[in-house]
Amino acid sequence: MEIVPLGPGFAAELRGVSIQDVAAGESAYAAVRAAFEEHSVIVLRGQDVTDDAQLAFSGRFGPLEATKVGSAGYGSNLVILKTLDEDGKVVQGDHRIALENKANQLWHTDSPFKKVPALASVLSSRIIPGRGGETEYVSTRLAFERLDPALQSRLENAFAWHEYAYSRGKIAPDLASPAERAALPPQCWRLVWKNPVNGRKALYIASHAYAIEGMDQKAAQELLAQLIEAATAPGGSYTHSWREGDVLMWDNRATMHRGRPWPASEPRYMVRTTISATEADGLEAMRPLNAIDSGR
Ligand code: OGA
Ligand code: MN
Repeated sequence: MEIVPLGPGFAAELRGVSIQDVAAGESAYAAVRAAFEEHSVIVLRGQDVTDDAQLAFSGRFGPLEATKVGSAGYGSNLVILKTLDEDGKVVQGDHRIALENKANQLWHTDSPFKKVPALASVLSSRIIPGRGGETEYVSTRLAFERLDPALQSRLENAFAWHEYAYSRGKIAPDLASPAERAALPPQCWRLVWKNPVNGRKALYIASHAYAIEGMDQKAAQELLAQLIEAATAPGGSYTHSWREGDVLMWDNRATMHRGRPWPASEPRYMVRTTISATEADGLEAMRPLNAIDSGR
């Protein structure tokens, strides 16, 4: 396996390894796992991707997340990101699916709003628009390392609240349905996630974060906005232009990502699998020390 850094300072293409190799073999898994821990975003090109192959690859890294209510793929381990309605027509501007795609264009990490947050996501492209539709990544590990030490230690001891309905509310007030709100109550996580393999720390922030425990709500939202702004400052991102056969995997503990727009008339179809974090991934230290109230 060859590792080709994509930059800036994170993200790498892995050559000479396939998703089938990882599914079948211990040494391929170990090599890809090590690259994932180190580079945070890994890209495999020219893959022979099917749902089953993606599931088998992803399942090597940990338990697969069950897809939440309200997402295409509910009840399975696949999240289907598409622009087609039930009749196979491309959805228009104010259709729920179009608005959900827009919410995906906010900087976020996947699943901090779940009871068990996500270690990693694996995304493959099935229908790619003629232009646009890239996925853009930043390293919240590098972002943390750029902060001054006083702020670093303050954040290491702080806990933020995340809620799915909050990020969806930025696009449209009722975008999160009653069923989604009921299934996804607010979750509280430490603001810094330490990788147990290499000891490196990363900001754990996202469009879903709406409050910081023990802090005035307005001041907390300002701080969260500043942290996101600093983490996503120009020049620090890797933008992936999708080609057929691409499989990307990213570390939700150490990155944020966002979808980029594409012409509304064009279809786009992506399939995601998501791997839940376990104690081996540093989850235990992320939990609040005491049971605390969501403040909502
Ligand atoms: C995701 C996601 C963005 C995109 O799959 O979690 O945010 O570009 N995707 O589709
Ligand atoms: Mn996402």
